[in-house]
Amino acid sequence: MAVLAIGSCDRGCRFSAEQSPNAGTAPIELARGVNLGDMLEAPVEGEWGQRVQQHYFDLIARAGFDFVRLPVKWSGHLLAGSGQGSSAFSIDPDFFDRVDEVVCWALERDLSIIIDLHHYDEMQTNPDLVAFVSVWRQIAEHYRHAPPQVLFELLNEPRDAMTNALWNRYAAAALQAIRESNPHREVVIGPSGINDFSALADLDLPRDSRLIVTFHYYHPIPFTHQGAVWLDGSEAWLGTDWQGTEAERLRVIGDFDVVSEWAREHGDARILLGEFGAYKLAPQDSRIRWTAFVREQAEARGFAWSYWEFASGFGIYDPESGRFREDLYQALMPTRGVLRDP
Ligand code: BGC
Repeated sequence: MAVLAIGSCDRGCRFSAEQSPNAGTAPIELARGVNLGDMLEAPVEGEWGQRVQQHYFDLIARAGFDFVRLPVKWSGHLLAGSGQGSSAFSIDPDFFDRVDEVVCWALERDLSIIIDLHHYDEMQTNPDLVAFVSVWRQIAEHYRHAPPQVLFELLNEPRDAMTNALWNRYAAAALQAIRESNPHREVVIGPSGINDFSALADLDLPRDSRLIVTFHYYHPIPFTHQGAVWLDGSEAWLGTDWQGTEAERLRVIGDFDVVSEWAREHGDARILLGEFGAYKLAPQDSRIRWTAFVREQAEARGFAWSYWEFASGFGIYDPESGRFREDLYQALMPTRGVLRDP
């Protein structure tokens, strides 16, 4: 098998045993990241207006981020196989090639990358443990020789039929399957209840020294999701602002304190604020204020963060002009100065 040549990320790049870097390494430190939303999380890449592009990784690295979170709709790329029942489905090898290419683009630029299981809708409506574990076993085996800068995230925003009790079983089973081939890889796990901080209390944290605990923060929803096309009734919220009043700030502080306290009670668990952002239809000055304040609260507590998202409806980058949205960028990276054109 060919060794992954960092520097040439042609389609079909592979992670081989010769590298074997996935053993006994120090934990990967994440700090500031961005989500590549609406890309590989769409049923077919491009269908939601965005494709992952190699030069995005140059921009992201140069802008000072140290990792990306990659939402991937693996469940849209399952082929009927020869086995029995739901475990019969295997991940399309062509799709693996595409994800490998993207993973490789990140690694080449010293960016860590979280491979996230996103929009596995069946798991939220009609959970199937055998299918869930089977998908994870395949992903884990595929990346077993990838460098430790490749992280796994078990499931984006478990909810609905994936109740707390069920999710605790599913997460433990998937982790066990991952550990068969990846004893040391960092795995990101979040609570059910849409990864909301308030659901952390119900998460049974598996005993495992290579876990990062994630939560998402979009409060107040009528502010961050005003006019969001995927949310019924959200147009009624248009015009909602976030002035950063004492009451507004105290709410965020109180919510984040809950997370800090939970982390302390769980052996100083490492925390990732995996998604936060305000949709483009929110008043821009409020978006900037809220984004900066939430980011500050995360950093003050030592949480890593990844902004939702890069180039779509919440985007810090405008793919049409080929430029970062400077005001949003400054809210995230105030000490980096003005970004010059690439
Ligand atoms: C969902 C996206 C959505 C975002 C903000 C993500 O977890 O996958 O579709 O745009 O949250 O609501």
